[in-house]
Amino acid sequence: MDQETAGITSRVPEPCTVIIFGAGGDLVLRKLMPSLFHLTRGNHLPDNINIIGVDRSDFDNDSYRKEVAKGNIRAPGLQTMILPNPKDWNEFLKNVTYFKADLSDMTAGGKLKAYSEELEKQRGIPPRRLFYLSLPPSVFPTALTSLHAAGLVGPETRKPGCWGRVIVEKPFGRDLESARALNAMTSSMLLENETYRIDHYLGKETVQNTLFFRFANAIFEPLWNFKYIDHVQLTAAEPLGVEKRGAYYEEAGTLRDMIQNHLIQVMALVAMEPPVTFDAESIRDEKVKVLKALRPIKPEDAVRETVRGQYGGGKIGRNEVIGYRQELNVKPDSTTETFVAVRAFVDNWRWFGVPFYLRSGKRMPRPDTEVCITFKKPPFNVFKALELPPNANQLILQIQPNDGMMLTFEAKVPGSDSRVKSVNMNFSYPEAFTVENPSAYERLLVDALLGDQTLFIRSDEVEAAWKFVTPIHQGWAKSPPPTFPNYKAGTWGPEDSDKWLAAEGRKWHNM
Ligand code: BG6
Repeated sequence: MDQETAGITSRVPEPCTVIIFGAGGDLVLRKLMPSLFHLTRGNHLPDNINIIGVDRSDFDNDSYRKEVAKGNIRAPGLQTMILPNPKDWNEFLKNVTYFKADLSDMTAGGKLKAYSEELEKQRGIPPRRLFYLSLPPSVFPTALTSLHAAGLVGPETRKPGCWGRVIVEKPFGRDLESARALNAMTSSMLLENETYRIDHYLGKETVQNTLFFRFANAIFEPLWNFKYIDHVQLTAAEPLGVEKRGAYYEEAGTLRDMIQNHLIQVMALVAMEPPVTFDAESIRDEKVKVLKALRPIKPEDAVRETVRGQYGGGKIGRNEVIGYRQELNVKPDSTTETFVAVRAFVDNWRWFGVPFYLRSGKRMPRPDTEVCITFKKPPFNVFKALELPPNANQLILQIQPNDGMMLTFEAKVPGSDSRVKSVNMNFSYPEAFTVENPSAYERLLVDALLGDQTLFIRSDEVEAAWKFVTPIHQGWAKSPPPTFPNYKAGTWGPEDSDKWLAAEGRKWHNM
């Protein structure tokens, strides 16, 4: 295999068992199972693998497999949904079974262990188990305790040739205190190298490419600092509303849902120092240094350093959509934010005085997840006679959609007049590579099976991110949001957000 066709990895995990809790849920059916199917089809999983779905519903193996098949067909996460041929399907589904269990029953762990051991015996697979806990945070402690009490994870799985790893879904707590308590609870049962805190943004190709772009090229890194960079914008805009997740969103809001994890993680990759080697600990050590260098926003400064918004009704494309307060399971006077912009500073030598603006919102006009780096203008304007002075150069790392990169620079407009215009230099993933980007979950599942934690979040990273975010929530709690809703669905957020940035002489980059 050459580099381009290698896909996710040429390393195949050893025979093992994947046990997925919350197996009837949306994430599992729409993202995880399709990812496991694609991995099987691409020969990235061992032939000898058990995939056990665990949930409370009354499925048997057959009816669960049918459910998995339906999910795969409608899975939106993968770029091209190729309808699987029956042979590939059977190949995959023969490894999938269903185990009914109610996790509030403390004997469930023991029964699951007996079931898993039976399957492992039939297929000669040693006890190497990856648990994916796709469960609400309130159920997580009981589930982990039950696994631990049954010996499915913990000391019994640390014998040579065996392992017991757990993938933990966000949210990892809802503030600094609860994150610390969760970390303490988890570490009383699992070692850090058995704990895989997943942030699916880190599995996205273009997010990973940030590190390759920075450290596999020599031309950009010398510019990557306060001397040449004016500011950095990190945007995650979605046209979607909260869909059926009103109840969750009421508790979370955009700051917890998108900024605390996804955008802060991307920011850490953009801002970190070069690691000594490309291994999990070196990379995570450098990321955590960035997070620890984040200048705290005091509660009393939270309103000044952020913009909050909530969408009202409006139009996405041609479709009329309802406002957040009208969504299912949302309070009619809800003050939950569906848009946030935060100004952050990384207080270290490299980033002295460079603002990082993190922005995310639901019901924006179109999807746009990107990092936009704006460079400083030339120190001296040679072209004084120009009607308009040259614009600052920008480098845009486009995460989705249209993954790629764009560099803008100034060029002379042809003709006898001296006029400049910004032009673009583009790199597009689909044009440059014939191989399709794997879905984020494919990459992360394989990494967890291989025991590679590079793209998973360490406990100290989680706590450092909450340390930055929690005082903002505290400040907001003291000063209720301005009149919500304050932006129409289908716009780029509240007008205040444009004004807030314009007050610093800057403008949002909207792709
Ligand atoms: C999830 C959030 O973590 O990320 C969702 O809970 C959000 O609210 C989603 O829609 C965005 O992910 P992606 O991969 O579609 O950008």
